[in-house]
Amino acid sequence: MKSLFEPRAIAVIGASANPGKIGYRVVENILRSGYQGHLIPINPKGGEVLGLTAHRSLEEVEEPIDVAVIVIPASFVLEAVEACGAAGVQHLVIITSGFSEVGETESERRIVKTAHRYGMRVLGPNIFGIYSAASSLDATFGPGGITPGPVAIITQSGALGIAMIGKTATESVGLSALVSVGNKADIDEADLLEYLATDDRTRAILMYIEGVKSGDRLQRVLADVTRKKPVVVIKSGRSQRGSMAAASHTGSLAGADEVFDDIMRQCGVLRAESVQEAFTWVRYLSSARIPDGDQAVIVTNGGGIGVMATDACEKYDVSLYDDQTVLAKTFSDVMPDFGSSKNPVDLTGQASAEDYAKSLEAVLAEDRMDAAIALYCETALFDTEQFGELLRNVYETYRGRKPIVFSMFGGERIEELIRSLRGDGIPVYGDVYEAVSALGAIYRAKRRMQAPVEQDTPSSLPMDDIRRVLDRARADHRTFLLAPEAAEVAELLGLQMPRSILARGIEDAIRAAETIGYPVVMKIVSKDIVHKSDAGGVALDLVNEEEVVDAYQAILRSCRDYAPDAVIEGVEVVEMVSAGVETIVGARQDPSFGPVVMIGLGGIYVEVMKDVSFRAAPVSRRAARDMIADLRSYPLLLGVRGESRKDIDAIADVIVILSQLIHACPEITDIEVNPLIAYDHGKGTRTVDMRILLQKDKGGELT
Ligand code: ACO
Repeated sequence: MKSLFEPRAIAVIGASANPGKIGYRVVENILRSGYQGHLIPINPKGGEVLGLTAHRSLEEVEEPIDVAVIVIPASFVLEAVEACGAAGVQHLVIITSGFSEVGETESERRIVKTAHRYGMRVLGPNIFGIYSAASSLDATFGPGGITPGPVAIITQSGALGIAMIGKTATESVGLSALVSVGNKADIDEADLLEYLATDDRTRAILMYIEGVKSGDRLQRVLADVTRKKPVVVIKSGRSQRGSMAAASHTGSLAGADEVFDDIMRQCGVLRAESVQEAFTWVRYLSSARIPDGDQAVIVTNGGGIGVMATDACEKYDVSLYDDQTVLAKTFSDVMPDFGSSKNPVDLTGQASAEDYAKSLEAVLAEDRMDAAIALYCETALFDTEQFGELLRNVYETYRGRKPIVFSMFGGERIEELIRSLRGDGIPVYGDVYEAVSALGAIYRAKRRMQAPVEQDTPSSLPMDDIRRVLDRARADHRTFLLAPEAAEVAELLGLQMPRSILARGIEDAIRAAETIGYPVVMKIVSKDIVHKSDAGGVALDLVNEEEVVDAYQAILRSCRDYAPDAVIEGVEVVEMVSAGVETIVGARQDPSFGPVVMIGLGGIYVEVMKDVSFRAAPVSRRAARDMIADLRSYPLLLGVRGESRKDIDAIADVIVILSQLIHACPEITDIEVNPLIAYDHGKGTRTVDMRILLQKDKGGELT
């Protein structure tokens, strides 16, 4: 990617002398941005473009070209790509629209195939171009005037990306790079992130994503990049996807957005709700120092906003310094008598600008306090000009040592002060929550960078034996395992399942129930009936022979009514498991991210509460425990109101095992253990039912 961001020579194919054309704007921006490499306009008419001689074709150019920006109509692009390949170009930046975004998938595919034949990489098509501070290169058709700085932006939306150029100017955010990825026919976010991770200019990365293509690679790259520098993501499009969604609970719970959200968290990415929030975070993350410790102090002249900031700290997970003795000592000399040294430190409305500045300095000079949240409500007592100067001095003195955020609230004078301080790069916000969210973002980034690298939990699954079971279903052209096959896999995985015996007649069923011991459950066994309950094929809690006989007859009758042509193998008599906390553990091939694993609170709540958590598979035991802790219902497993703690380690083991199985077997689309009953700590879990779905078998070959 280096030569894409730092090209020695760049050609613009479709460079135009007509100021109304995109081919003109791109050349103009490259010239204005101060690009020091060689710029070569290409236009079949020749002539001049903005004072540069245009070559009629690439054949006329003798020097090597690193990047060719293509701005000619879609129907001519393939031919131009061939010409670029023949000329030894390395990267194509295809601005032209009219490809897969309008259904022209085949022509896009041919362009990439041709480019790859020549060893070229393709950015786009359907993009507004690329800006790179590393080579002072603005090869976009944006408004120009990009200020270099520490933030890199990767955007899938062209229009939003162009608008972001203006936004970076008003927000005083300097850019190290701005890349439009458009249709992502070849180069995607993961490729760009790998370069940006090593680019010293880039201190924080913002990504706008609409859809993920190669999610498994993206998550691996993100997991690595976020250990070096913070990544903020905005993602739109919260629709459900995937035709497999209805095939299992895991599928229907795995809305694209839920999976995206959890996997971004797993990778240490900060997901912003809005463009504004994303800008607030990257602006701060790229300029502030990563704090040494966790303890922040709020300094305020207004009790109300102090309390609001305290609430915001809880929301954004910012810890507040709490040693009352040290707080009282720290502020004893600098605080007016009527103030409160408790955190939030309230100087009250009568404090002078000097009192305020001194108190803030006291926080910043005290080693035990790690960050300052400085809040100010406009009062008549303050001279805003003098106050502004005091704040500038404090900020300049301490900015390299500790993170500081400011929030000010008031009328026109305050608005003016905020504008002026922000213009100087000081992190001042009109809203307390915005200020604390910026600080919270830096704490989250810090926690990620310092988190131990997870060791994989080694897999010891008996894959040969498991594959033999899967092969039997495949040979039978089935896309699911029958209950006894699923039970066989469960046993191979070491999952604890209730005892079960297949009965082919009433006498068989009675004998089976006696062998297992009452109470028992009975279930229909038929490859033609997948949804057993819907068919009336399940009877629970049968306590004696009479009930077994009645249930056997009722099950057969209603299944025959439900599916008259179904081949019925018999009825399974199963041990009735005792009650515990019902969970659901599933795994599936996600259309975007590949193999993922899920845990949720089970039973009747699973659909309503959607209290589930996902990770990309395979997961370590530690990640599995984190997934369980992410659940809103986690306290139920920890034990509430006298209930004892459940066997969380045993649940984590099942998550790890299913994650390893889905990762090892791409032919499995869905696995679901539902319910997985968790018993008291040390007493393990029971897998009451397990379902495994397989990919469709096309002509004997799995697809
Ligand atoms: N090699 C070199 N130059 C060529 C070639 C060629 N093979 N073929 C044509 N040209 C020249 C043309 O002669 C013309 O130059 P001229 O002005 O001197 O005559 C120039 O290249 C441009 O060709 P036009 O036919 O005039 O095409 P036009 O500029 O109208 O449109 C464009 C080309 C901009 C690529 C258009 O097809 C397009 O895709 N527009 C959409 C771009 C876009 O929005 N991209 C997504 C951005 S993201 C977002 O949504 C904001």
